[in-house]
Amino acid sequence: MNINAQSEIGTVVSNERGAKDIWEMELIAPKIASDTLPGQFVHIRCNPGFNPLLRRPMSIGPVVKDKFSLIYAVHGEGTRLLTEKKTGDKIDLIGPLGNSFTKPDQDVTAIYVAGGIGVVPLLSCYDLQADPDNAHFILGARSMMYMPISEKDVIQRNVMISTDDGSIGHHGNVIQLLEQIVGDIKSKYIKVYGCGPTPMMSALKKYCVEHSISAELSLEVPMGCAVGACQSCAVRRADGNGYYLVCRDGPVFPIEEVVI
Ligand SMILES: Cc1cc2nc3c(=O)[nH]c(=O)nc-3n(C[C@H](O)[C@H](O)[C@H](O)COP(=O)(O)OP(=O)(O)OC[C@H]3O[C@@H](n4cnc5c(N)ncnc54)[C@H](O)[C@@H]3O)c2cc1C
Ligand code: FES
Repeated sequence: MNINAQSEIGTVVSNERGAKDIWEMELIAPKIASDTLPGQFVHIRCNPGFNPLLRRPMSIGPVVKDKFSLIYAVHGEGTRLLTEKKTGDKIDLIGPLGNSFTKPDQDVTAIYVAGGIGVVPLLSCYDLQADPDNAHFILGARSMMYMPISEKDVIQRNVMISTDDGSIGHHGNVIQLLEQIVGDIKSKYIKVYGCGPTPMMSALKKYCVEHSISAELSLEVPMGCAVGACQSCAVRRADGNGYYLVCRDGPVFPIEEVVI
């Protein structure tokens, strides 16, 4: 567990649906906001009672002073309960948890590759670590209806979009956009930062390994305790020496260290 992680009661500033089944919540939580590094997450009690019993992990989105955003896709009971939160409601949080993305060296072109809701940790990573003149941001979504971020967020970071149905941006996937960008880049040094669904992470790993591109991936696997006790978040180590626990050792891993 990250030694800076703490328990804090956050206050909901706003909680609005931004796209189909995707919501954005802004929270005031000064202690967590002041300690957060890009890529870290909070573990949220979605309901004050015991249903659901387990907290839910959510990446910490952009931080502004004592506030931060969560962007979440509604899946089951936990995320459905989050949609019921109103301005002024209190939420029990533990965080910031996990490790963080490393900052790209000055001569490195950084490429942020997000799939769907996996965009959340990459937003703060880009905002805090990227040189906008030497960085690219790619976001893949199922269709325009499922775009997890606003038009303002897209413009602000010059995000290139791909959709499976071609309803907005490139008709295809993020790997095709990545190929185009890598082909155009003059710099010898490239670093990819990725977060998204496991099949996309596997394809991203394959591409980066084949092209000898250094990369860090944030893995969003099912979690129970988020403090290294229940073993539900294990991923195989690439060196064959057992497993990493994503909550304790991640969620960010150098691409060559994990089997995905
Ligand atoms: C480090 C990390 C960061 C995450 N950040 C975000 C984010 O920014 N936005 C967002 O929408 N989602 C994020 N997720 C996924 C999110 O935690 C799950 O979608 C959520 O827990 C589902 O809860 P539920 O009760 O709605 O669904 P249920 O399906 O009822 O969840 C049941 C159980 O499975 C776990 N679970 C189910 N699906 C997932 C999944 N894909 N990943 C992890 N746990 C899962 C839940 O924690 C819960 O214990 C993140 C996951 C991790 C590990
Ligand atoms: S979630 Fe329990 S060990 Fe990682």
